[in-house]
Amino acid sequence: MKMLFYAAKVYDKKSFGLILEQFPEIEIEYIDHELEPRTAALAKGYDAICAFVSANVGAETLQTLYDCGVKIVLMRCAGFNNVDVDKAKELGMIVKRVPGYSPESVAELAMGLALAVNRRLYKAYNKVRENDYSLKGLRGVNFYQKTAGIVGTGKIGAAMCRICRGFGMRVIAYDVYENPALKDFVEYVSLDELLAQSDLISLHCPLMDSTYHMINLENIKKMKDGVILVNTSRGALVDTNELIEGIRMRKFLGVGLDVYEEETGNVYEDRSDDIMEHSVTARLLAFPNVMITSHQGFYTMEALAAIAETTLQNLMDAKEGTRNGNDVA
Ligand code: NAI
Repeated sequence: MKMLFYAAKVYDKKSFGLILEQFPEIEIEYIDHELEPRTAALAKGYDAICAFVSANVGAETLQTLYDCGVKIVLMRCAGFNNVDVDKAKELGMIVKRVPGYSPESVAELAMGLALAVNRRLYKAYNKVRENDYSLKGLRGVNFYQKTAGIVGTGKIGAAMCRICRGFGMRVIAYDVYENPALKDFVEYVSLDELLAQSDLISLHCPLMDSTYHMINLENIKKMKDGVILVNTSRGALVDTNELIEGIRMRKFLGVGLDVYEEETGNVYEDRSDDIMEHSVTARLLAFPNVMITSHQGFYTMEALAAIAETTLQNLMDAKEGTRNGNDVA
């Protein structure tokens, strides 16, 4: 089974290389190129391709892959908002993903961002390095006995609920389905109630039509003054321009983002020498209470190992026609 691995990074080669010998039937070729309509044709002669969060797995890409004889698409991530699922089904292609590789890896980063923006750790770090031992601009709040509002209580949201409980917070949540595993300590409320009551709001629902721009100005106005917002899920859950308006209204104590709307094109690239033509992100970064990381929620040793193993198992399952919870199409 030959698999073409798009947008391969050094860490991918390491984590997949470590587990590959357990899958002797699989042969992997790694390439730097991102998967998009133009590069899909490179997959001619392969049985499967492997892609990540910033790939364009839209209709045109899928059609080209299909025309090249590729019938298996393996997403080495949990989210699949960048896959045209209807088109894949229409073509009869198999698309699999890695739904729950390590929920704690993302949830722990979400709490890390919450703490970092609350206590301005990014500022504190730089101040001390420059012999500035003053406390100006560093005052935060306790999380203990405050309210954490978790939007989406699937695998990652549930891990975040447990972390917040560990901090001694009251935990409330909004989801279209209630997670029975959390019923002992999480109170489910409506989205409006969550927005109105939370001191920390953390987003853990998928990006879909119904969740696109769920954090917009109308909803920001419903939040408490001095709220902390964290998004480690998908950038477009938040309307960036309206978030900027909310920040200017002094709504937020802090905003921590591992994902943001403009991230495609930036993710895992060194663009430090580029002059950005239009960058809403740059405007966001100008605020002292915003911290942005570049989609690193999944980036722990444990998560990478689980992603590699599940992706290769997904390929074996696809070959054998085994369907399970990892199937997108
Ligand atoms: P999951 O599928 O286990 O949980 C998602 C939860 O969101 C479910 O409980 C679902 O009912 C809920 N939900 C669906 N529609 C909703 C709505 N309209 N309002 C509120 N809740 C809604 O997914 P998991 O594994 O917890 O991942 C969550 C998201 O985290 C993924 O969709 C992905 O976008 C993101 N992610 C980010 C990573 C990073 O590196 N920053 C890594 C992995 C995932």
